[in-house]
Amino acid sequence: MIISPSILACDFLNIESELKNLERIENLWLHLDIMDGHFVPNLTFGHPVVEMIAKITNIKLDAHLMVTNPEFYLETFQNYNIHNITFHLESTKDILSLIKKAKKIYPSVGISLKPKSSEELLTKELLSLVNLVLVMSVEPGFAGQKFIPESIQRIERIKKLKKDLRLDFMIQVDGGVSDKNSKELKNAGAKNLVAGSYIFKKDGQSYSEKINSLRSSQK
Ligand code: DX5
Ligand code: ZN
Repeated sequence: MIISPSILACDFLNIESELKNLERIENLWLHLDIMDGHFVPNLTFGHPVVEMIAKITNIKLDAHLMVTNPEFYLETFQNYNIHNITFHLESTKDILSLIKKAKKIYPSVGISLKPKSSEELLTKELLSLVNLVLVMSVEPGFAGQKFIPESIQRIERIKKLKKDLRLDFMIQVDGGVSDKNSKELKNAGAKNLVAGSYIFKKDGQSYSEKINSLRSSQK
């Protein structure tokens, strides 16, 4: 199970030491929430910050783009060693050609569904191109929101679709993930869990303990 800590919830003033604390943990992606204040109400950071992060860490970078003009980011993000880049299905008129272009640049390319997005947008042609499908389990925009339980059934449906179509993408879940739902998410078919607040909230447990409990939770 890949765990993707979302730095939206980390201590930005001490990001270097935050990343050092994650560095020795295996099978991690570093989840970067790129929000433009248009596609979602919140505004985070863009390529200058991603460039700096890329310089100080060797954790695989996972960029989640919540932006209205993804074509611009496709170009500007290309030199920062990003491993996976995920676009929202509704962020552009022609998602298929965006994904085709992204596949030429990035090792892994994903598409994301918001909680209210129609699964009909997941065409066979699109699914056969992507490496990852991101199921948002909160409305995108903010860390620390409550997990939407219907996301479990959505993951199960997408897992079935993947099997029926004999495809090979990975299912990632993002929003309100914790040790309370990680087991259920895993059983439903998620192979990659994004977690912000659960990992970074200061409660005496180390990041590695938290990540272990996401991986092995019996709750
Ligand atoms: C929400 C972001 C998430 C968020 C997750 O729009 O895409 O990645 O940071 O944070 P938690 O785990 O706190 O819900
Ligand atoms: Zn995210």
